[in-house]
Amino acid sequence: MANSTSEGVTVVGHPLILHKLSLMRRAATSTGKFRQLLREISLLLAYEVTRDLPLAYEPIDTPLTRYDAPTIEGKKLCLIAILRAGDGLVQGMLDLVPSARVGHIGLYRDPKTLQAIEYFYKVPDLAGRLVIVADPMLATGHTAVAAVSRLKKSGAKQIKFLCLLSAPEGIATFRGAHPDVPVFTAAIDDHLNDHGYIVPGLGDAGDRLYGTK
Ligand code: URA
Repeated sequence: MANSTSEGVTVVGHPLILHKLSLMRRAATSTGKFRQLLREISLLLAYEVTRDLPLAYEPIDTPLTRYDAPTIEGKKLCLIAILRAGDGLVQGMLDLVPSARVGHIGLYRDPKTLQAIEYFYKVPDLAGRLVIVADPMLATGHTAVAAVSRLKKSGAKQIKFLCLLSAPEGIATFRGAHPDVPVFTAAIDDHLNDHGYIVPGLGDAGDRLYGTK
């Protein structure tokens, strides 16, 4: 299946990604296997989300001649993990872009007000960098919206949002709040259930990644 892009949302349809994602969805897949698959998929998703990085040409000497070699232009990009499952995505992306800067955002939802409350925020200098925000699950979209708003306040100008699975509800909420931030996802699932889980989904990504349930 080829990639498809519509209204700022790219569904990355590479067969390897879809196959690995199906293995991750299975309830019987072990924690170790789930972690390994997420790492592998993250690398493949990173390949797609960085596809339009600008290039500059710098003269180098090959063993044979002088040559104008393409290299990534500008500052190192920045990967932001939304805790805690976002860290699983970022680890795989770092296999592909090991010199990227990395930031972490921790948010939880106040059960009474339903507002996103920040409990951790540590990011590098964001000015002039492409900032890729990673969270495996774009479910209600509230956490993603809050994280991106916070990053914009810190000076991020060019942002992309990367997830593994998304729900139509989450995409609508996120794109409504941040129409300037493109979304990359491996699949758009059917719906959210009453507990905010993506269906068919893969369960709680953090629990499955860290074996906490
Ligand atoms: N977060 C998860 O980990 N899984 C879901 O299905 C929704 C939100």
